[in-house]
Amino acid sequence: MAVADQHKIGSGFGFRSTAAEVIDGIDLTGRLAIVTGGYSGIGFETTKALTAAGAFVVVPARRPETAAEALADLSSVEVAPLDLGDLPSVKAFADSFLASGRSIDLLINSAGVMACPETRVGPGWEAQFATNHLGHYALVNRLWPALRPGARVVAVSSGAHRYSAMRWDDVMFTGDDYDRWAAYGQSKTANSLFAVELDRLARESGIRAYSLHPGGIRTPLQRHMSHEEMVGFGLVDEDGNPILDRFKTPEQGAATQVWAATSPQLADLGGVYLEDCDVAELRTSDDITAKGVYPYAVDPDEAARLWTLSAELTGVNALT
Ligand SMILES: NC(=O)c1ccc[n+]([C@@H]2O[C@H](COP(=O)([O-])OP(=O)(O)OC[C@H]3O[C@@H](n4cnc5c(N)ncnc54)[C@H](OP(=O)(O)O)[C@@H]3O)[C@@H](O)[C@H]2O)c1
Repeated sequence: MAVADQHKIGSGFGFRSTAAEVIDGIDLTGRLAIVTGGYSGIGFETTKALTAAGAFVVVPARRPETAAEALADLSSVEVAPLDLGDLPSVKAFADSFLASGRSIDLLINSAGVMACPETRVGPGWEAQFATNHLGHYALVNRLWPALRPGARVVAVSSGAHRYSAMRWDDVMFTGDDYDRWAAYGQSKTANSLFAVELDRLARESGIRAYSLHPGGIRTPLQRHMSHEEMVGFGLVDEDGNPILDRFKTPEQGAATQVWAATSPQLADLGGVYLEDCDVAELRTSDDITAKGVYPYAVDPDEAARLWTLSAELTGVNALT
C-alpha cells in the first residue's frame, strides 16, 4: 500500500498560529470533546480553546484532583479518573462514559510521557509505548460505540518519532538495551501509525483520524530531561534561557491539534500527519531542524501490523 497523501494544503496558518486563531469562527455549541491530558501543557490550552468555542470537554486524568484545580476557571468541563498505563482503568473510564449515553464529536489524545527512566507497567510493558500508544489504542476502541459519524480522533505524536521506527523484534525493550529516547520515539511513531490505520478502518463510518507534531513547547513533559540534553537539543542556551525561535508558546503548541480536530479544511483528508497547522511533507533530511514525517511513521503496512499487535496485547479491537 502507498503512503498517505503527505503534502501541504496551504492552510494559511503556520508555526506561530494559536489555538484561538485556528478555531476562530468555528461554533462547537452542543459538541462533546474528550481531551486526555487536557489539564496540562498543550492539552490544557486545547481544553481552553474548545470550551471557548462552545464545546463541553471531558478531561480524563490520572490525578483528578490536580486536574480539577487546573481547570477550575473553565466552565463546561468534567474531570474523570483515567490512568493510560493501566488497562483496567481505561476500561473503567470508558464503561462509565458509555453508561452516560453521551456521544463524542472530538477525541484528542494529548496525554503522554517522554524519555522517562525504564519503567514497567501492566504485564511488564515498557511504559512509554504502553502509556502513549497502547492506553490510547484501548481507549479509542472502547469508546468506539460513542463516536458519532463526523467525529474526529486526533493522536498527538511528535517530531521525536525520528528516534525510532517500530522495533518489531523487541517492542517492549526486553533486553538490557533500554534507551529512553528510542522508547519515546517508537511510542510517537506508534501514535502516527495508529491514526493511519484508524482512519482506514473508521472512514466508512464517517470518522476520521489525524496525527501531528505540535512543535517544541516548554511544559512539564520535559521533566526527565537534563540541562545538558536541553542544550544539546537546541532548546535552551548554556544559562538555561529558552531559545525562543525554536519554541512555541503553549497557545501556539495547541494550535495544530485544535486545527486537526475542528478545521473544515481537513474535511476530505484523514490518516495524515500534521505540523504547524498544515499537512506535513514527507521528511527527507535527518537534520535536527528538519520538518516532516518519516515514511515509516505513515506506512499503511506498518500501521496495520501495529493494529494487530495492539489488539493482541490489549485484548480490545472494535473495528476489525
Ligand atoms: N511539549 C512538547 O515540546 C511536545 C513536543 C512534541 C510532542 N509533544 C506531545 O504532546 C503531548 C502533550 O504534551 P505536553 O507538552 O502538553 O505535556 P504535559 O504538560 O506533561 O502533559 C501531558 C499530560 O499527560 C498526562 N499523562 C501522563 N501519563 C499519563 C497516564 N499514565 N495516564 C493519564 N494521563 C497521563 C499528564 O498527567 P500528569 O500531570 O499526571 O503527569 C499530563 O496531563 C504529549 O503526547 C507529547 O508527547 C509535546
